[in-house]
This record gives sequence, C-alpha cells and structure tokens, in this order.
Amino acid sequence: MFLVLIVAATACAQAPELPEGADAQLVEGRDVWQARCATCHGPDGGGGTGPRLNEGRVLDRYPDAAEQATIIENGKGNMPSFSSVLTEEQIDAVIRYTREIL
Ligand code: HEC
Repeated sequence: MFLVLIVAATACAQAPELPEGADAQLVEGRDVWQARCATCHGPDGGGGTGPRLNEGRVLDRYPDAAEQATIIENGKGNMPSFSSVLTEEQIDAVIRYTREIL
C-alpha cells in the first residue's frame, strides 16, 4: 500500500506528456520547461519555490500571453530573468506549453 502511494506520487510529479502528434513548438516548450522551470514551479506545474502555474492558472492570471512573456523575460521577485538565457522562440514555446499542456 505504501509503495503504491509512492509510485502514484512520483507519477504525478512528472512533466505532463504531450498529446500524440504534438508539433515541434510544443516539444521545444516541454524541453525548456523541464530544463529551466520545473525545479521551481514543480515538474507538473503544481508549484514549489515558485507559484503553481498549471490547470489553467496562467490563463486566468494572464489572459494576454504577452504579459506572461514579460514576466519570463524580465523576472519578478525571486523569479529570475530569462531574456539573456532563452531565445524568443524558446520563451514563446514554453508559454504555449504552460497554457496548453500544464
Ligand atoms: C529560481 C526559481 C524559478 C525558476 C527557475 C522559474 N521561476 Fe517562475 N517564478 C518564480 C517565483 C518565486 C515566482 C513568483 C514571483 C513573484 O510574484 O514575486 C515566479 C513567477 C512566475 C510566473 C508568474 C506567476 C503568477 O502567478 O503571476 C510565471 C508565468 C513564471 N514564473 C513562469 C516561469 C517559467 C516559464 C520558467 C522557466 C522558463 C520559470 N518561471 C522559472 C521562481 C522561478
């Protein structure tokens, strides 16, 4: 029973799989998410050091994706700036991943 719970908890903490036939931008977005964002926001976007972003939270907070891009580019509080780390394409890709997949 205990083992089953551990397995279940671990499964939940993975970055969500992409749907079959996902395009290249979503694949890139997932890779950026796992490499750069998951440590603070949780692999599934459920939160950690950084706030929860999954289950439509970013859509509620940022109806306009451009506002979300500004935070990722410039940082905010303990959220680092990514403008010199990620290309614009990578930022657009990870935004799509957080809006459509998480
Ligand atoms: C070092 C930890 C850290 C990393 C890495 C990180 N973030 Fe954050 N992020 C934070 C913190 C902390 C906040 C809250 C900032 C505040 O409101 O003061 C935040 C806030 C955000 C917000 C705004 C959330 C809201 O509710 O307003 C978004 C969107 C976001 N991060 C996306 C990302 C993305 C995308 C990445 C990867 C490219 C990323 N973050 C990487 C720590 C991090």
